[in-house]
Amino acid sequence: GAPVEVNISKVEPGQLIRVEWRGKPVWVVRRTDDILAELPKHNDQLRDPNSEEDQQPEYAKNIYRSIKEEFFIAVGICTHLGCSPTYEHNKFEQYVEGIRSGFFCPCHGSKFDMSGRVFQGVPAPLNLVIPPHHYVDDNTILVG
Ligand code: FES
Repeated sequence: GAPVEVNISKVEPGQLIRVEWRGKPVWVVRRTDDILAELPKHNDQLRDPNSEEDQQPEYAKNIYRSIKEEFFIAVGICTHLGCSPTYEHNKFEQYVEGIRSGFFCPCHGSKFDMSGRVFQGVPAPLNLVIPPHHYVDDNTILVG
């Protein structure tokens, strides 16, 4: 599959946009400062907080799992059986107490944080996959 170019200049803070890459949904989320501030605080509730077992490029091996903290790029497919989780911006506390934003898989209840890291005690075995990507310029990401 060909790489997919994504214009991120109009993505609002907190917004998630979807593109398709190799037949898969890829999410681009513009994380707010509030979202970023939550990420270092719940490592003890995650299965693999440092993403040691997961698929991501070397440049995304950090707790933000991204090149720039503000933009999160992930394959939007649950690592359990392939459903697409929903984006729960400021609505995640119904799933994990004290955490305001994350992703919830409606199929069997897996929960992921805003870096796509899976919480403990759910069926999904791994964090969400981060696809290869890079910045062509400040407004443009190439996925693939
Ligand atoms: Fe997501 Fe099973 S497919 S929890």
